[in-house]
Amino acid sequence: MNIRRAEPKDLTKIQQCNLHNLPENYHMRYWAYSFITWPEVSYLAEDSSGRVVGYVLSSIEPDEQFPWLQVGHVNSLSVLRTYRRLGLAKRLMLLSQKAMIDSYNIEYIQLHVRKSNRAAFTLYRDKLGFQIHRKEVGYYGDGEDAYSMRIVLKPQS
Ligand code: ACO
Repeated sequence: MNIRRAEPKDLTKIQQCNLHNLPENYHMRYWAYSFITWPEVSYLAEDSSGRVVGYVLSSIEPDEQFPWLQVGHVNSLSVLRTYRRLGLAKRLMLLSQKAMIDSYNIEYIQLHVRKSNRAAFTLYRDKLGFQIHRKEVGYYGDGEDAYSMRIVLKPQS
């Protein structure tokens, strides 16, 4: 297994993995924009044939309330079914988090997860230390609620 930064040339393979694993899909333009704008913070895992079996897509955005503060966002994370429970998602998340902290002056890292997504929620809360920031009612296209989760890196004033 090879884990490395995602690059624009990986776009199609990452999108395949995303389409397999999640109903939340992004337009190719968004993937490309992210890789070019924040090249340090998205990672992938590939097998020996070069197939992408897992990825994390992250970005850096302004804080909603205090737009002069920068926030790390984990926009999409997934691992192909046959490669799950091997620690891949955790490794991808830790690499992305480290890159966000090292390369940008971020205050906290944020993500959204479906209320029913036990696997991802457990990973975020129990293995990575995210906490529920708030519940967002009807956040997803099918009406499911999301937990907005965060890891705060700097003391909030
Ligand atoms: N049930 C309960 N806990 C789980 C499960 C599960 N099915 N899967 C992972 N975890 C937790 C466990 O604590 C696990 O540690 P352990 O194996 O020592 O018990 C820990 O997460 C780390 O697991 P990893 O092996 O690193 O996770 P994996 O590589 O299997 O990927 C993921 C987890 C990404 C959630 C995978 O199941 C997946 O791709 N699911 C479909 C897509 C998805 O839901 N993505 C997240 C959407 S939210 C977002 O993108 C911001």
